Amino acid sequence: MGFGRGKVILLGEHAVVHGCPAIAVGIERGVTASASTAERNILRLSPWGLAIEPDPSGGEPLERAFAAALALYPERPALEVSAEVELPAGAGLGCSAAIGVAALDAIDEALSIQRSRTELAEAALVWERIFHGNPSGIDNAMSAVGGVALYRKGEPLQPLRSNKPLHLVIGYSGESSSTKEMVASVARQLEDDPKRVNKAFEAIEVLVRNAKLAIEAGDHIALGQLLDLNHTILSSLMLCTSKLDEMCQAARAAGALGAKMTGAGGGGCMIALAPKQDQALRLCEVLGQDAFVAEVSA
Ligand code: PMV
Repeated sequence: MGFGRGKVILLGEHAVVHGCPAIAVGIERGVTASASTAERNILRLSPWGLAIEPDPSGGEPLERAFAAALALYPERPALEVSAEVELPAGAGLGCSAAIGVAALDAIDEALSIQRSRTELAEAALVWERIFHGNPSGIDNAMSAVGGVALYRKGEPLQPLRSNKPLHLVIGYSGESSSTKEMVASVARQLEDDPKRVNKAFEAIEVLVRNAKLAIEAGDHIALGQLLDLNHTILSSLMLCTSKLDEMCQAARAAGALGAKMTGAGGGGCMIALAPKQDQALRLCEVLGQDAFVAEVSA
């Protein structure tokens, strides 16, 4: 069985596209996939009921991504890949990367190809490029490797260690957005006003560096404050929606140590850091029926 996890960016999204570090966690929810030889190449995605044929110049990103994935295996039989997606799409949880990682993992298994999870992450970048244009690589890296890690474009993941688990709650705004468009919007702002946007990136980098220390020290009060500050900077880059802001405020009022949007923004998900497991469950109730708890050990 192939598996690709979902991921949550704790801090540093968007700035990571421009070379700053970010901290992300792999979550238990993700995508499982299996592959077997078949009469023709086909990718089935449930629960969406999609059957995708590979086409390098197809109109659908999934057609092009599947073609790019198959091209990594020049000599192979036709393959049917079936993937079960447990993540909302366009929600900032790295759904597209998780499908790519799970599909490649399943194909490797069907063809008895051995590769490390790091090599799998690198291979899945061909998939992610089709969806995101200019991906930092954080989604496919976290999807394949998991844990809690500091990531900087072009560098290996740096796993972070802590003896205190993170009690995260992930809330979904119900609004989907396009990562490609949100990344392009930040790129436009950078071009129009480099001084302002570079300052925002520098501030985010400081927050990420302090968050690394807070995670390693198990100081979740400090980490929560850093999440709140990161949310404010992302708002200044026009990435938040009023729904995401409302959810973050509701989480803080209900006892979260900190809360922020996560991923591309413009909709999608937010995260809240709970002091303890039982409080995480309480926050879940406040954040609505799609909210779930992700307990992450570093
Ligand atoms: O919304 P997601 O899960 O696709 O996360 C995107 C994270 C960005 O930093 C906005 C883009 C990237 O490639 O790192």
